[in-house]
Amino acid sequence: LRIAVFASGSGSNFQALAEAIRGQGIPAELALLVCDKPAARVAQRAEALGVPAMLFNPKDYPSREAYEEEIVERLQAEGIGLIVLAGYMRLITDTLVKPYYGRIINIHPALLPAFPGVHAIRQALEYGVKLAGVTVHFVDGGMDTGPIIAQRAVEVLDEDTEESLAERIHAVEHELLPETVRWIAEGRVTLNGRIVNVRRE
Ligand code: GRF
Repeated sequence: LRIAVFASGSGSNFQALAEAIRGQGIPAELALLVCDKPAARVAQRAEALGVPAMLFNPKDYPSREAYEEEIVERLQAEGIGLIVLAGYMRLITDTLVKPYYGRIINIHPALLPAFPGVHAIRQALEYGVKLAGVTVHFVDGGMDTGPIIAQRAVEVLDEDTEESLAERIHAVEHELLPETVRWIAEGRVTLNGRIVNVRRE
């Protein structure tokens, strides 16, 4: 299974996935990074890991469709079978969702459907929930709305700050994302409407 990761920022999940694929025998290859912020740390990580990157600046294109079409062409040329959104800070549109629905996943730092969007950890803390967490889900056109594949809870502690909670959430992400990718690569994940089933080993 050839995988493309889409990321815009630090890329700690990109790194964790790359290391897990190489170190834990996941039957997959991290074949491409797609990054809309050429100066992002994730681009440096890709270079250090020898993962080819498609770096682009959305401002250089007349529309979102235009760069998404270019992305689709590159994904097809590379034979990509799974897209992983890992801190890709843009909604993707039908240009990408249509050809790849069921083969695009996203990792989100909350127990969806609570706290979708870009400030999930802060919002969970401000709301006062006692369980925060991580969700990996299939991507549809909405903001963090697609069918849920896997979730893991992270306890909120009285003394937590946004930073301390984020750190524990990220540690869980770095395990749950590779685990979910393994299930998909092993052909154990099926999607029936909103419901996802994972066949046990
Ligand atoms: C993660 O918290 C992920 O859940 C969210 O964006 C963050 C990306 O972090 N979608 P990193 O770039 O992988 O370090």
